Amino acid sequence: MRRMLLVLALFLWFMSFLNASKLDVSQFPPSFLFGTATSSYQVEGAFLEGNKSLSNWDVFTHLEGKIKDGSNGDVSADHYHNYIEDIELMHSLGVNSYRFSISWSRVLPRGRFGGINLRGIQFYNDLINNLVVRGIQPFVTLSHYDIPQELEDRYGAWLSEEIQKDFGHFAEVCFKAFGDRVKYWSTLNEPNIWARSSYQVGEYPPGLHMDPFGAAHNMILAHATAVNIYKKKYQEKQRGSIGIIIFMAWFEPLRSIPEDYIATQLTLAFQIEWFLDPLFYGDYPIAMRETLQSKLPKFSPKDKKKLEHKIDFIGINHYTSFYVRDCHVLSNKSEENVENEGVCMGGERDGLPIGTPTAMPNYYVVPRGLEETVLFIMDRYNNTPMFITENGFGQQGDDKSTEELLNDVDRIEYLQSYLTSLTHAIRRGADVRGYFVWSLIDNFEWTFGYTIRFGLYHVDFDTQKRTPKLSANWYKNFLSDDKSQW
Ligand code: NOJ
Repeated sequence: MRRMLLVLALFLWFMSFLNASKLDVSQFPPSFLFGTATSSYQVEGAFLEGNKSLSNWDVFTHLEGKIKDGSNGDVSADHYHNYIEDIELMHSLGVNSYRFSISWSRVLPRGRFGGINLRGIQFYNDLINNLVVRGIQPFVTLSHYDIPQELEDRYGAWLSEEIQKDFGHFAEVCFKAFGDRVKYWSTLNEPNIWARSSYQVGEYPPGLHMDPFGAAHNMILAHATAVNIYKKKYQEKQRGSIGIIIFMAWFEPLRSIPEDYIATQLTLAFQIEWFLDPLFYGDYPIAMRETLQSKLPKFSPKDKKKLEHKIDFIGINHYTSFYVRDCHVLSNKSEENVENEGVCMGGERDGLPIGTPTAMPNYYVVPRGLEETVLFIMDRYNNTPMFITENGFGQQGDDKSTEELLNDVDRIEYLQSYLTSLTHAIRRGADVRGYFVWSLIDNFEWTFGYTIRFGLYHVDFDTQKRTPKLSANWYKNFLSDDKSQW
């Protein structure tokens, strides 16, 4: 009898363990935002409509050889004309929030050197109103890599301090026009990727090869300008919050040796603390200051004053993790991804990369990376509220049939395992308040054009037909707490 009771107890314990480890929407806080994300240039199309001017991406994608498949975002998923249908897709998923960005060149075609384009304002008003009617909270990014080309031509965009005034002006126009309904503002999307890709690697406009630190400095101060305007003039009345969105991969030392641990610390400083330390502690991390010396711009007392208004949340775009190792002694550095002096990313441990590869080069599936990232941010920045503003899985789009693309079981596994990892961080006390799948629909994936697809919905770019992939049904069932799964 005692034996039977023991077996029964063990069985019950095992079942409760299984249940606890099973992903369930009830494992997230009650007011958690669940959504999907897009950005203006990637989905809108209509690049010459409604009095919009050319953006930096409109110009760049029309140059020879910049985009893998020679494509551009002129039409893309034509969200500009299909936004009502796209909101219906969101509604049918059951999400309560939508992260999108505002096309600066649609709202202020000439930056602060011309007037407000009322047709641009109208488009975003229509979008926002339709979202609100459906009970979907708008979660708005002010600039997601696209800026009016005029700012590039006039003064070299992020290379000039002038951009701080322009960004402040743009932000204020948006707060005034939309702030009665928009309660979540993010200033910039992934300035850490933006600065490097545009000014160092040269694969985003304006395609330069130089130190990215000056441009990044202006991004930080432009961000701070917008935050100051919001906090001083709008926040109290509009009762919203404002933050910034950083690309955050997780980094693990390749080998258990001090050199690789140090290389990992350095990488975290150069990738993440680069932008967040100034916003929280008023200056760049020591590791950057020591490594770069005079190459790193300094914050003047006036700048530091500007940085005093703190952000309300940190947006985390997380997709992957990397091994990091010290490679001071590497003979042929060009073989690896050398981001900073003496630090290499990638590599294999016991002959294996850090996780399963995906269609995005260097993106591996490493679910524990999300928990680690969130815990790192929680620790370093005082458990400031966090949103996972992007997480998603890219499929190779150019060598598969539509049927194969719709049957995206690997995306479901990805989302399920990353969301599970997120629940672990929340259980350990992280103040995470929302999660957005990148992306609602297939769209223009920057330098990869349409060769990689991130959507929960498949888009036929010839007909603009949207079709749910298996992952859309999975997300829907997860959100509706339907235990029968997909
Ligand atoms: C991050 C960027 O914010 C987004 O624009 C991009 O499409 C996704 N990552 C996927 O690469």
